[in-house]
Amino acid sequence: MKHRTIDQIVSPMATSDGAGVKMLRAIGTPSLDHMDPFLLLDMFGSEKGTDYIAGFPDHPHRGFETVTYMLAGKMRHRDNAGNEGLLETGGAQWMTAGRGLIHSEMPEQTDGLMKGFQLWVNLPADQKMIAPRYQDLSPDDIPSKELDGIGTLKVIAGVAFGVTGPVSKIVTKPLFLDLDMKPHAEIEIPIPKGQTSFLYIFEGKMHLDGETIETNRLVTLEDGEVVSITAGSKGARFILLAADPIKEPIARYGPFVMNTQEEIYQAFDDFRAGKFG
Ligand code: CO
Repeated sequence: MKHRTIDQIVSPMATSDGAGVKMLRAIGTPSLDHMDPFLLLDMFGSEKGTDYIAGFPDHPHRGFETVTYMLAGKMRHRDNAGNEGLLETGGAQWMTAGRGLIHSEMPEQTDGLMKGFQLWVNLPADQKMIAPRYQDLSPDDIPSKELDGIGTLKVIAGVAFGVTGPVSKIVTKPLFLDLDMKPHAEIEIPIPKGQTSFLYIFEGKMHLDGETIETNRLVTLEDGEVVSITAGSKGARFILLAADPIKEPIARYGPFVMNTQEEIYQAFDDFRAGKFG
């Protein structure tokens, strides 16, 4: 088994998005523009309503997928095709934006902890203009398993330790898991060879490839078949992602991710002409 070693340890950047929601951005920054097929990773987390109350009012997307994983809090999702859903603690949404839609994600609380991740995953050229598709997952839809002496595993997409995540038919074949490890626990997690992979630790510390990784660090991994992790003295909780790289040119502007600049101009034209959704 070839062990995956560390490629980079990235400190996320404090930023704000939507109508002023405060967050940490770990992918989609000057130090890590993207890691094919992952285009963006944001972590939002605050107890203060003023940090998130403005939410993410109406905005378009085209050409990729947006994934939200809620660790705490409630957010209402609506789009211009009449779809609506409530994202709540432990739930997730995998939205394949495809040719485009206009949506909003607004807090359903005015105070108290709101915490979670937003991830953008690219689509290959032949899938960028497909019809939008949603996979809304309630907390009960996401399977959880106690790993003996290690901790609690949740699988959102892909398969790990005999648990299959509910997200289906995603072209990049993603693995998306959330692992909450006990103090000093050790684990080897299989990751399909050839897939791009990273993890983001959001509680505790871990030891990986001879390094100690602190809370709120993103670790990009070299290729291999398995990653070996030891939790720190207070445990460790992290998300781990892997997916097939797309290996196509990326033209990106704000909420549009296409292959060419021309397709970006087209996205703006279509958006202004009201052709989204
Ligand atoms: Co959005």
